[in-house]
Amino acid sequence: MDLPKRLPTHVAIIMDGNGRWAQKRGLPRVHGHFRGAEAAREIIKTTRELEIPWLTLYCFSEENWKRSEEEISTLMNLLNEYLEKELPEIQKSGIRLKAIGRIWKLPEDVRKKLIETMEKTSNNKEMTLILALSYGGRQEITDAVKKIISEGINNPEDVTESIINKHLYLDMPEPDLLIRTGGEKRISNFLLWQIAYTELYFTDVLWPDFTKEEYLAALHDFSQRIRRFGGV
Ligand code: IPE
Ligand code: IPE
Ligand code: MG
Repeated sequence: MDLPKRLPTHVAIIMDGNGRWAQKRGLPRVHGHFRGAEAAREIIKTTRELEIPWLTLYCFSEENWKRSEEEISTLMNLLNEYLEKELPEIQKSGIRLKAIGRIWKLPEDVRKKLIETMEKTSNNKEMTLILALSYGGRQEITDAVKKIISEGINNPEDVTESIINKHLYLDMPEPDLLIRTGGEKRISNFLLWQIAYTELYFTDVLWPDFTKEEYLAALHDFSQRIRRFGGV
């Protein structure tokens, strides 16, 4: 497939469907997460190759803590493994790693590794990879309001969109394209504030089956969209 003419600056992805991918094959749900992690590696690589500078991956939501201990620990181990094994590749490709979410809730070992990786990659300039971990859009806005109040900003006139923006987890360009795999047509508490004018793309493809070709199809679809931002 040829490359789309106009690429987004920031792609955000809700990587959904790992459990169903495994169930369809009579495998335990966690197997779907193993394959999902592989798909994520491939998409990160492709994003870098396409020179798309920002990629945000929804890895674990605040609500995902409701899942079984086994499933949660599999996901945490996969994250740990990713951080450990991929560091040389991340460095080589000039990727800066960032995280959004209540990362203080992550298990100690994962949190330490995450912070270490973020520090080690902080000067990389080619691409920013943002992992949404223990993330919820409502929680992000709530946490922003808490920070604003704790800084003593209490004059209503001072509460502007820009002030709220500044107190979100990370200063980032708004996503141009949001992809959700796995067939559900909902946002599931992802980036509520930031996606006000984001183009949405839903596909039935389950995340472990989301290949480079599927990704390019989404990018082609995006390149056809006419964005008006409320104008004419
Ligand atoms: C997405 O796949 C991965 C996470 C939420 C961590 P799911 O685990 O939600 O898979 P389905 O939706 O049950 O198939
Ligand atoms: C959204 O998927 C969260 C991630 C992909 C990390 P879920 O599977 O948790 O969302 P719902 O429950 O279908 O809305
Ligand atoms: Mg799901």
